Amino acid sequence: MTKINTLYETIGGQPTIDTIVDSLYKHIGANETLLPIFPDDLEESARKQRLFLTQFFGGPPIYSKERGRPMLPVRHQPFEITPARRDAWLGCMQTALTEAGIEGALFKDIMSRLAVPAFRMVNTEETPTKENE
Ligand code: HEM
Repeated sequence: MTKINTLYETIGGQPTIDTIVDSLYKHIGANETLLPIFPDDLEESARKQRLFLTQFFGGPPIYSKERGRPMLPVRHQPFEITPARRDAWLGCMQTALTEAGIEGALFKDIMSRLAVPAFRMVNTEETPTKENE
């Protein structure tokens, strides 16, 4: 029987996830729209994201083992996530995937899978205040 690879395996496993997350947080850390809601030290944020994306892409369920059910909209509730911040986050992810050498159909597949939770995370409809723009 043919084994169907997970997305995790297809992109190259843990080393690729690590590259994507490093790049994602480098771009988040330089993004004026996103910075106001992130902690100063992004190390721990990146670590949790590494656990999550590993599991989300079909790798070992290491996020749930440590943190329980993801319930991401609930975990994002304390932070004002506007449509502008959603788009900024997706933009950082897009750059991170490109920098990790992911392109074509795989790129499109991953972006559309991530857009689903990203759209669910929006919890604030107001436009960001001037200082956050
Ligand atoms: C829509 C735009 C998004 C914004 C502005 C955003 C922002 C944040 C912020 C401020 C935190 C808390 C600080 C931290 O611990 O990192 C966080 C945590 C997290 N985010 Fe997002 N996020 C977004 C979308 C997403 C998406 C689409 C995913 C998953 C595909 C995701 C996964 C996570 C995870 C796993 C955590 C850690 C949760 C935990 O405490 O275990 N985020 N995010």
